[in-house]
Amino acid sequence: MKSAFLAALVTVLPAYVAGQAQEYDQCGGTGWAGPTSCVSGTTCTVLNPYYSQCLPGTAVPSSVSSVSSISSHSSSVSSAPSTGPTGTPTPTAGNPWTGYEIFLSPYYASEVQAAVEQISDSTLAAQAATIANIPTFTWLDSTSKIPDLGTYLANASALGKSTGTKQLLQIVIYDLPDRDCAAKASNGEFTIADNGQANYENYIDQIVALIKQYPDVRVVAVIEPDSLANLVTNLSVQECAEAQTTYLACVNYALTNLAGAGVYMYIDAGHAGWLGWPANLSPAAQLFTQVWTNAGKSPLIKGLATDVANYNALNAASPDPITQGNPNYDEMLYINALAPVLQQQGWDATFIVDQARSGVQNIRNQWGDWCNIKGAGFGTRPTTNTGSSFIDSIVWVKPGGECDGTSNSSSPRYDSTCSLSDALQPAPEAGTWFQAYFETLVSAANPPISA
Ligand code: BGC
Repeated sequence: MKSAFLAALVTVLPAYVAGQAQEYDQCGGTGWAGPTSCVSGTTCTVLNPYYSQCLPGTAVPSSVSSVSSISSHSSSVSSAPSTGPTGTPTPTAGNPWTGYEIFLSPYYASEVQAAVEQISDSTLAAQAATIANIPTFTWLDSTSKIPDLGTYLANASALGKSTGTKQLLQIVIYDLPDRDCAAKASNGEFTIADNGQANYENYIDQIVALIKQYPDVRVVAVIEPDSLANLVTNLSVQECAEAQTTYLACVNYALTNLAGAGVYMYIDAGHAGWLGWPANLSPAAQLFTQVWTNAGKSPLIKGLATDVANYNALNAASPDPITQGNPNYDEMLYINALAPVLQQQGWDATFIVDQARSGVQNIRNQWGDWCNIKGAGFGTRPTTNTGSSFIDSIVWVKPGGECDGTSNSSSPRYDSTCSLSDALQPAPEAGTWFQAYFETLVSAANPPISA
């Protein structure tokens, strides 16, 4: 029917050339049998392996063509109607996800695709393949990842223009000097002793410069997992005490400069089993409010992110025995306890909660265990239907299948937590793909994955 319609157009409109796709029409992709060239003034542009499209312009932007082998599509997690995104760095009140589609990380999609090819069980493979369509966050865990951000912004901008639905990109800012001061597995590329603060500022500057080029793409960022939580509870660790001033200066630099680029931000706030202990709540709230105040109380600093890369339930059916003694034994209880304290200090913060690997509960020996916990399953899918006015979205911050830390004791980043009996072994370096772990996340997913 479509081709008949096009043929009729060719007869009445000489400007339409037979065999050429029109502006914004499909012009390629896996299984595509239609025209592969575009009308004058447009260029066939690869958006993902399954879909190429005639976009206005004569040259293919290099940032778009460079991802021809990986998938970059989008997914909506919001059931709320569009409120008319501004697409400008002007902050809007309310939930940043409302009215936007989440741009899917092409990097994670390619990791998942490679993983699926290694799975021989066809049911498991089909289930695993669906994970590529669930939005995660892109971790900018070193300066080498920044060019990817440029590519994604360009792709997201093009997709937003071609579909008419604006795109939201989810990133994690994660490159502090002397990173992961109380553990070792995620030690980063910068050290305070070796120009770390200036290097970090340069890392932020590069990110900001890219984001400013694409004001039509909304960016949501989680700011520096574990950093401020370590300053609340781990100042007895020498490396954390020595990093305190630099962490605060760098986080302030990130918050103020990313706000200048219109980025919506959630500062990492550990999890229920860390800052959710009653004795930690007030010091944590004080530090977060201070950091928010020092950053000028920007409305773009929406609030806090909890449970990032952890395993806690949002609503536990019953307390996991390892949580004994803490009345805030799940993330909802933690947030309900923390939010009013922040409010008392003047900050109406809202939250996002990572549930990527929280599908299965009661699997840890101790609440503090965090490394590649055996038996974990993918959890509640990202949604803005959170059941709480404090929580903007349930999200998947940790890209499930990427490792938490190596179990190889001779590695410089070896952390003994990754050799505990509840940690799956052998495990590769943090951030690299851990196939066996991914497969169990899929098979143990809760809710289960229908393929
Ligand atoms: C690693 C990072 C990685 C992130 C997400 C962290 O534990 O240190 O390199 O990007 O997890 O997988």
